Amino acid sequence: MSDANKQVEKKIEALREKIRSHEYLYYVLDQPEISDAEFDKLMRDLKDLEVAHPELLTADSPTQRVGGKPREGFLKVRHSSPMLSLDNTYNEDELRDWERRVPELTGRVDVDYVCELKLDGMSLALIYEGGKLVRGITRGDGSVGEDVTLNVRTVRSIPLSISKEQLKKAGIPADFEVRGELLMPTAAFRKLNEEREKNGLATFANPRNFTAGTVRQLDSSVTAQRRLDFFPYILLSNGRTYFERHWKTLNALQEAGFKVNTNRKLVHNMEDVWAFIQEWAAKRESLAYEIDGIVVKVDRTALQDELGFTGKAPRWAIAYKYAARAGITQLEDIRVQVGRTGKLTPVAMLAPVLIGGTTVRNATLHNMDEIDRLGVKIGDWVQVERGGDVIPKVAKVIDDKDHPRPRDLKDFEMPEKCPVCGTKVVRTEGEVDYRCVNANCPAKLRETILHFASRGIMNIDGMGDALVNQLTERGLLKNVADIYKLTKADLLSLERMGDKSAQNILDEIENSKKLPLERVIYGLGIRMVGERTAQFLAEHFGSMEALENAGVEELQNVNEVGPRIAESIVEFFGIAANRKLVERLREAGLTLTGQKKQRGTKLVGKTFVLTGTLAHFTRDEAKKMIEDAGGKVTGSVSKKTDYVVAGADAGSKLDKAKELGVKVIEEKELTQLLG
Ligand code: IVH
Repeated sequence: MSDANKQVEKKIEALREKIRSHEYLYYVLDQPEISDAEFDKLMRDLKDLEVAHPELLTADSPTQRVGGKPREGFLKVRHSSPMLSLDNTYNEDELRDWERRVPELTGRVDVDYVCELKLDGMSLALIYEGGKLVRGITRGDGSVGEDVTLNVRTVRSIPLSISKEQLKKAGIPADFEVRGELLMPTAAFRKLNEEREKNGLATFANPRNFTAGTVRQLDSSVTAQRRLDFFPYILLSNGRTYFERHWKTLNALQEAGFKVNTNRKLVHNMEDVWAFIQEWAAKRESLAYEIDGIVVKVDRTALQDELGFTGKAPRWAIAYKYAARAGITQLEDIRVQVGRTGKLTPVAMLAPVLIGGTTVRNATLHNMDEIDRLGVKIGDWVQVERGGDVIPKVAKVIDDKDHPRPRDLKDFEMPEKCPVCGTKVVRTEGEVDYRCVNANCPAKLRETILHFASRGIMNIDGMGDALVNQLTERGLLKNVADIYKLTKADLLSLERMGDKSAQNILDEIENSKKLPLERVIYGLGIRMVGERTAQFLAEHFGSMEALENAGVEELQNVNEVGPRIAESIVEFFGIAANRKLVERLREAGLTLTGQKKQRGTKLVGKTFVLTGTLAHFTRDEAKKMIEDAGGKVTGSVSKKTDYVVAGADAGSKLDKAKELGVKVIEEKELTQLLG
């Protein structure tokens, strides 16, 4: 390296260090020392230098949080040791029962406990090597999770790199693993959800679901835009707890620059544990994020090891779950909402009631089965619960001294026609939900169009939320086929649309016509027909026309298509408006024919179920190989299953196979079958 280059490298490293320390002040401590503009300036300077010297770019540079290209999917990764969950307790007695077992099993009476908030997010493992973040893994099934490193890197409170000195000061080795909770603060959740609502996108029920949806985004630049937070609570080295005390772990992680939750306490007896629980029951509304209880952990690692585990939970820790915030009120009416997937949801209209500081006026009743289960009628007194969810739920019917059941109750019935478009509502055999399956139903319009135009389907770049909103509001798009009727004048009549952008969009639309049949099938948004199924359908039928006319029987000859999917397809094409739509797409010149493809024939007619962890390939890989050989892979074992392929730790599916006398094979035998 030349001297000049060495100079630049030094400058870059100094800038990075500076930015890292400001990130820490801002995202971990919430105590920024410089303005956003000054921070942006530092970032820009660093970016400029890195662009000019790409050879000096490193993965742990703060500029690399922005997120990269969309990925195809996530790799499965095995955890260094199982990621456990916690047993729950719901009252003081249960908590005392748990506490009693600690001295019984360890012979120790002077036990210290650490009390922490039970954060309502999702657990995540972070692997650091040489102080650098190399991998982020979701919990998955506890043994195997998904590699979400690119997304995790976008979380500002997660250090991408920790200096040797700092780790040394904290007493943490250079190679280590941190586990903790990834979550979305309530305010960010509300704001993002409102934006989604405004843009006609599906909203999330609670911050936890939003977090899970965010960390599993294939496009990490999306993750980068949503502010997630990470609070660690476990430190491992070689899969084992590193420090001799949990309290020390938390302090060391904090010292190393992680955002350890400050609402924690080391206590010496159960009275203080109970006081902590009481304290936070009263204060939980004041937190910036949702908690659903308190976690109590035995402080000493040696005692933890002695206590060990039961099933999937440690005996050395316990969750105390707060009761849902609830109130009693009267159910005045039940209205039906049509969601963007066409699902009809009954919503309870309530006499306003104050629950946990919020006035609640409606609550979800989920579906008809739930209404039957609750036995609820219009006019009833009901108990309404508010968890972390945006929409509270009706928990039960109340009939007691203070709230005697009224006489003039009214039964609720699902409407026969969609309240939005009037199309006959369907309920597929064996399914809970009633749906409107008219693809042109206005309730579903924006979502259907966004789905159709999205990347990976019809790839109409530029046809995002803002554009689709305007187009649907002005009545220029009433269904996806209208996309192909748009003129330049239509587009130019919109806000913030110049000639060049309008032309680009028209070009994109024109290009989409060349995309293969499977994309169009997927784009139609037929319920339960995802990307893979669309592919199989295109290969099997070779044309939209053949697919439109296929019956339930024939459809089930297609890979992965069972009776439910077959019904859904027949139902879709059974609606005149949907057929008309396809006809218009045909007229517009889209590709509605394709190559029929014969997959391999070795395994034709054979149905497989995969269970447990395979040694040489992931389940997805095994599935693809079986399918490529003409076989079918299903999720559950029945008499129709030909083979159950059992890997390590196979569970209930293996038992079921034995019970039904289905042939169980090992990975080696599968390889032989595949040739
Ligand atoms: S300790 C072996 N501490 O709760 C110990 N978990 O219901 C495992 N959680 O999967 C976890 N806050 O995702 C621990 N302070 C906390 C927590 C916490 C939230 C989550 C975690 C776990 C789930 C179990």
